[in-house]
Amino acid sequence: MKPYAQEPLTDFSLEKNKIAFQDALKKVENECGKDYPIVIGGEKIFTEEKIVSINPANKNEVIGRVSKADKKLAEEAMQAALHTFETWKNWEPQHRANILFKASAILRRRKHEFSAWMVKEAGKPWHEADADTAEAIDFLEYYGREMIRLKEGVPVISRPGEINQYTYIPLGVGVIISPFNFPLAIMAGTAVAAIVTGNTILLKPANSTPIVAAKFVELMEEAGLPKGVLNFVPGSGAEIGDYLVDHPKTRFISFTGSREVGCRIYERAAKVNPGQKWLKRVIAEMGGKDTVVVDRDADIDLAVESIVYSAFGFSGQKCSAGSRAVVHQDIYHEVLEKAIAFTKTLTVGNPAEGHFMGPVIDEHAFKKITNYIEIGKLEGKLMLGGEADDSVGYFIQPTIFADLDENARMMQEEIFGPVLAFCKARDFDHMMEIANNTDYGLTGALISNNREHIERARKEFHVGNLYFNRNCTGAVVGHQPFGGFNMSGTDSKAGGPDYLILHMQAKSISEKL
Ligand code: NAD
Ligand code: ALA
Repeated sequence: MKPYAQEPLTDFSLEKNKIAFQDALKKVENECGKDYPIVIGGEKIFTEEKIVSINPANKNEVIGRVSKADKKLAEEAMQAALHTFETWKNWEPQHRANILFKASAILRRRKHEFSAWMVKEAGKPWHEADADTAEAIDFLEYYGREMIRLKEGVPVISRPGEINQYTYIPLGVGVIISPFNFPLAIMAGTAVAAIVTGNTILLKPANSTPIVAAKFVELMEEAGLPKGVLNFVPGSGAEIGDYLVDHPKTRFISFTGSREVGCRIYERAAKVNPGQKWLKRVIAEMGGKDTVVVDRDADIDLAVESIVYSAFGFSGQKCSAGSRAVVHQDIYHEVLEKAIAFTKTLTVGNPAEGHFMGPVIDEHAFKKITNYIEIGKLEGKLMLGGEADDSVGYFIQPTIFADLDENARMMQEEIFGPVLAFCKARDFDHMMEIANNTDYGLTGALISNNREHIERARKEFHVGNLYFNRNCTGAVVGHQPFGGFNMSGTDSKAGGPDYLILHMQAKSISEKL
């Protein structure tokens, strides 16, 4: 088998790729408005109550309707997953991995189609949707190979008269709860990591992007995943989310989403409920308040590009988004002015038409972000943007605030929108102090040509994903394993060499000869 290699991104400057993507968008548009089922033990169930998915760039366009699970159906899904676990756990790791490789091949063939669904359902610009699909392919390829690597366990010492073995076995039934912002990559990555390690799962997708998830569930069936391994239970977080997190038969929860919901899950999962005979494991990937730090001797153009792309890619709706620029006082005004000028060149509009930036995900996000813009006007100087229009879709212009105090709310709280805060630093010590002054610790970048400062930041900049002389988004599976410190999560690293082990338990076996 070929070693793992990152899936190439599509070059949309080539006419043939552009045409292929436009064709995929047309195909998806023709398929919009359909109904999708819950899937339990392979059975497709259509309910009266539906989650209606709309296009955030055009509120009148329905992308599809997904049946909604209640507690009764969630319980049925749990029973199906428990039943299937008894057989799935005994499948050869190689055979489980083969299903991921097959799924990857299908996804690669239908790449533009899946990306087009994300343009329509999540408001992702073309290049962001393409990267999301490529990352999903990467997770399938990488985790398949990782499972094969781990299948014999890890060598331990044996000695005369004694053979010792150290292997990994699956945990049981996992609840996978995914966010809207990487509706394919994170949803698929967290689901298949649990599956390939021999667990069965209940997948609860984000309510704003359930169609992409439903399409992936169909794809896994096509790839030969046995019935009951992946049970698809879209529904209300408060209703079935809590029910499944509390369930005594839930063995682990893999959550990606906000700090608020992550902390709630962590706390509830800690309680041992009647009938439960283990301590639940929680893998939680939560929010971020990420910083691009610009040193005095930085390459200014590189700094500007890194700040702007980190802040405004996918309208700032990435946990990795660089929503804070901390700049040395000597170059602060130059960097700020150039960042404003560069941001003015970005186009905003319906992502299906190929704009750099699309809408934000929904009304709730629109209100939250516009409220932060008002807070920003009180705390700092509005330099660019600030306008928002939800008449057709949820559009917010890229917005830049200057002269924020390092402890301002705009510098501390995750906004999750296209809003960037600039803050001036006295010297490098001050930069590191500001960089580490939030509750989070997900990503960060330092733009610098000072070797001593780079080496200091390597140790002092306390984030799970640290980048030098580039933007702070866009981690690549197998290259930059991804996950943060502090309130950004449980320090797990998706797409890394120790990620799969989080879904298993080690068994130490010793035979006396
Ligand atoms: P969210 O927390 O609102 O929702 C995430 C998921 O949790 C959804 O499926 C939602 O339905 C579900 N949920 C809601 N209430 C629940 C409950 N009581 N019990 C169980 N599940 C419940 O997050 P979002 O808006 O979809 O995503 C954005 C957030 O995700 C941001 O904070 C972002 O930083 C974070 N995120 C983190 C990472 C990471 O790797 N650290 C990656 C992507 C997104
Ligand atoms: N893995 C995504 C990134 O690095 C969140 O931007």
